[in-house]
Amino acid sequence: MYFIANWKMFGGLKSLNSLGKVANFFQNFRRNKNLKIIYCPPTTLINSMSKKLKKSKIEVGAQNCHESEVYGAHTGSINPRMLKDAGASYVIIGHSENRQRGEKNKLINQKIKTAIKSGLKIIFCIGETLSEKRKKKTKKILDEQIRYGLNKIQNKNKIIIAYEPIWSIGSGLIPKPEDLFKTIDFIKKKAKNYKVLYGGSVNPKNILKLRDIKNIDGYLIGGASQDPKKFIDIIKKTYN
Ligand code: 13P
Repeated sequence: MYFIANWKMFGGLKSLNSLGKVANFFQNFRRNKNLKIIYCPPTTLINSMSKKLKKSKIEVGAQNCHESEVYGAHTGSINPRMLKDAGASYVIIGHSENRQRGEKNKLINQKIKTAIKSGLKIIFCIGETLSEKRKKKTKKILDEQIRYGLNKIQNKNKIIIAYEPIWSIGSGLIPKPEDLFKTIDFIKKKAKNYKVLYGGSVNPKNILKLRDIKNIDGYLIGGASQDPKKFIDIIKKTYN
């Protein structure tokens, strides 16, 4: 099971103090468990975080990247090689918060290819808006995001898919368990042999429902991942 913390645009150097707790917990807990923890902090913290977590088996990821493999005149951008150099081994690509700012499937596909070439693993986000859900377009949207996003990509083992319905991000709402099972199943049929995670308002309470959905391979956690207690609680409850 994957537990991926997406800190989004939150946190400074002080936030790294909370990592010791999670690293200790992980060291004791992970034995005999197929458990992976990945932290995706803001870019400014990738280097110090990866140094801090070096001895633990917790890995570090970035939250986005530029699509170019090489250096270039792109003010404000960072390419996957630079992220790798800073200590990242994963990168989130296609998060809805970036799709909403204009990232299209084609660009996302390019970013995935470049990031793989640069040696990063990918957390590839897909999900429908509330209005798409209401219009019963969820499958159509997911199908497009998968088809174009993963177009001509061979290295399946380098990619984890995260299904994040946009209406459930930060809203406290999660899909009905039977709906979520079906959607994950649909994704796994479209994207065979990929791990599929769920993301959107995962917290220590609703994990008790989510953990019973057997085809989910882990969680991409936003808000609750900033609090080490909540994050640890979510992991513990998943296995209990
Ligand atoms: P929340 O857990 O805060 O809803 O965020 C989910 C998310 O967008 C993770 O990428």
